[in-house]
Amino acid sequence: MLDQVEEVASQANAELQKISSPEELEAWRVRYLGRKSKLNNILRSLSDVPIEERKALGARANQIRSSLESSFSARKDTLESSATVSLERDKIDVSLPGEPCQTGRIHPTTKTIKEICNIFVSMGFQVAEGPQVEWEHYNFEALNMPAEHPARDGFATLWVDYHTPTGARPMLMRTHTSPVQVRVMEKRKPPIRIIVPGRVFRRETTDATHLPMFYQVEGLVVDEGVTFAHLKGTLEYFIRTLFGEKLKIRFRPSFFPFTEPSAEDDISCVICGGSANERRTANDERRKCPVCGGKGWLEILGAGMVNPKVFEAVGYDPKKVTGLAFGMGVERIAMLKYGINDIRLFCENDVRFLRQF
Ligand code: PHE
Repeated sequence: MLDQVEEVASQANAELQKISSPEELEAWRVRYLGRKSKLNNILRSLSDVPIEERKALGARANQIRSSLESSFSARKDTLESSATVSLERDKIDVSLPGEPCQTGRIHPTTKTIKEICNIFVSMGFQVAEGPQVEWEHYNFEALNMPAEHPARDGFATLWVDYHTPTGARPMLMRTHTSPVQVRVMEKRKPPIRIIVPGRVFRRETTDATHLPMFYQVEGLVVDEGVTFAHLKGTLEYFIRTLFGEKLKIRFRPSFFPFTEPSAEDDISCVICGGSANERRTANDERRKCPVCGGKGWLEILGAGMVNPKVFEAVGYDPKKVTGLAFGMGVERIAMLKYGINDIRLFCENDVRFLRQF
């Protein structure tokens, strides 16, 4: 019996050395110190042991039991403290600032389109859109620019074939947003008050002020009794809201086949303030303002009263209704508003540029 007790003790101690988790330790406790453990069985059956052996056996068994108990709690302590160590090591410091996540932002062109449209929407205009690949009829003919019209020279563009079962018909990349005027008037009766943002295409060599693809916003108002005064008032309100009250604005006579009379709108130069004065450079040279070229004025849009020919093309009666129309280049307005000196920045996707808006 005594041998058995000693064997249990050495086995228990050997196993305890290998234990590395609280679960294993608990299993060990049940095995060696639990109710059904060998040691407990031996202690329980002490009464069967002859009296002369009983005393020594009982004493030794109890001694082993308490030694196992203290080994158990020692082991438990070390296991728990190593658990604390790993908790310590793996803990998350919730007070640390988070990793910044990259958020995108609105492109300056889109932002400017929204700003422009919002001003007109506040005046009761609706937003309309049209296709970028357009029929010659809408881009030119219905706008009083028949084939061979010299005004078409300023509107060179890419032509594409539209394939039908009976052959190809030519289409073009629209050169302005004005065709949407025609599309909307064809479908609706006056009164009309629309604003048309969109992409347009022209055969241009790319440089600091030209892109072969850019954005325009078009405006059209048609109703009985629309006058040039409405055109001036509407555009003046728009320009002052977008650029501020201090600007000077002027209307300069111009020509577009689809408006008569036509005008171009200039604002006083946002850089030299319209002083048109030469500026002194660092080495005391006199140089013209690089933005307005010393003219003091910047052209920002084309406009006019809708040409009666355009009304005829869409079946409106020019004796009953009149209209005003205008069109502006979005990147150009953004350049003036934000002081951007190269239009190519808008399509280079350089985040250092885009992040500034
Ligand atoms: N469509 C003209 C352009 O692209 C601008 C314009 C629009 C002028 C409407 C007058 C009226 O140059």
